[in-house]
Amino acid sequence: MSPLEGKRIVLGVTGGIAAYKAVEICRRLVDSGAHVVPIMTDAAQHFVGTTTLSALASEPVQTELWHNPTTPIPHTKVGQGADLIIVAPATAKCIAAYRMGYSHDLLQNTLLATRAPVIVCPAMHTEMWEHPSVVDNMEVLRRRGVHVVEPESGRLAGGDVGAGRLASPESIVAAAERVLGSGELAGVSMIVSAGGTREPIDSVRVIANRSSGKQGYAVAAEAASRGASVTLVSTVALPAPSGVEVVSVETAAEMQGAIESRAARADVIVMAAAVADFRPASVANHKLKKHDGPPQIVLEPTPDILAGLGATKPTGQVLVGFAAETDDLIANAQSKLERKHLDLIVANDVSAPSVGFAHDTNAVTLLRPDAKPVEIDLAAKRDVARVVIDTIIEIRASRANDTRTGKH
Ligand code: CTP
Repeated sequence: MSPLEGKRIVLGVTGGIAAYKAVEICRRLVDSGAHVVPIMTDAAQHFVGTTTLSALASEPVQTELWHNPTTPIPHTKVGQGADLIIVAPATAKCIAAYRMGYSHDLLQNTLLATRAPVIVCPAMHTEMWEHPSVVDNMEVLRRRGVHVVEPESGRLAGGDVGAGRLASPESIVAAAERVLGSGELAGVSMIVSAGGTREPIDSVRVIANRSSGKQGYAVAAEAASRGASVTLVSTVALPAPSGVEVVSVETAAEMQGAIESRAARADVIVMAAAVADFRPASVANHKLKKHDGPPQIVLEPTPDILAGLGATKPTGQVLVGFAAETDDLIANAQSKLERKHLDLIVANDVSAPSVGFAHDTNAVTLLRPDAKPVEIDLAAKRDVARVVIDTIIEIRASRANDTRTGKH
């Protein structure tokens, strides 16, 4: 279940070009089961109409401090009833007013009359974002415990490029999940690998595979939303999940280096990457030429990263593998579970329709050494990630219980 399920979230939209992205943020929050109460400032209405947001949110947009049709005291009612307030986009003016407690409109009153956590998502031009007054205001808000989803660098409304672009709707929703999440994995350090490795043949060509990395990214995002500190070792350039540190690698050897140097300190390692089993034994340092005829490419095995981790696993660490199979799914996955000394393996039949590589959905079976298999029918990769993380939490809890009762 999403931590946003059933939560009352006030979405404050202020007047910047990025206001159009609030529509997508609203949609995603509603899709996650939240009850979204939208508030728009006067300036925001220059950028998007109230009709759009009212249609997508859980109730009509509120804009008025006076003559508000929903309640005679909107200045306190809305903030008091909130579980979370998100301001996206937050303009320099909104940030300044919030810092000063200048309650001139419904949104600022709501921000003052609440005990709920607040997430501010600034968006403005680089010059404004870097202006000392904005820097000071942000510092004060952070010190007060306001959560900030930092703006990204990229193309801005005027066509110029720099810091100040509103963070992606995905990162803003992930921040909301983190703030409202149970924090069950707080203090837990986790490594997740994602994507297919690319093994060079020459200076331009590689041997690759079809893995998109989406399932690994979903696992990393879900773990971070539950409070884990996550390092994602990735071969693909998908947007980094909010709060996750991404280490980019390309080959199996680079992935091995990145993971092994961090493994001893990790409480959980999830190998969702599709690591090549073989690589060219020698790599030409120039482009192989067609006129030299078909090359003879001699392959050698790559290191099995997961098997190595299983052989040297520190006490208490939870090690999770994935098994991408086209035949004998359960038997093959079961043998990998045992051979690589894993605590959990996520088996997926990559030949089935809408499953595995490149899709947004997956259907998997979870196998553990001492528990019944659990099947997850076709579901969004994020939902599969949720069950994988729930299972990891269960394994950790049963170990802690065994330690307490002296079973181990
Ligand atoms: N794996 C790994 N290093 C490798 C190959 C695989 O760490 N060189 C990990 C994968 O990340 C995955 C698990 O081992 O978590 C199983 O990978 P898979 O490709 O399904 O199996 P293999 O062990 O490579 O066996 P096979 O190719 O025969 O199915």
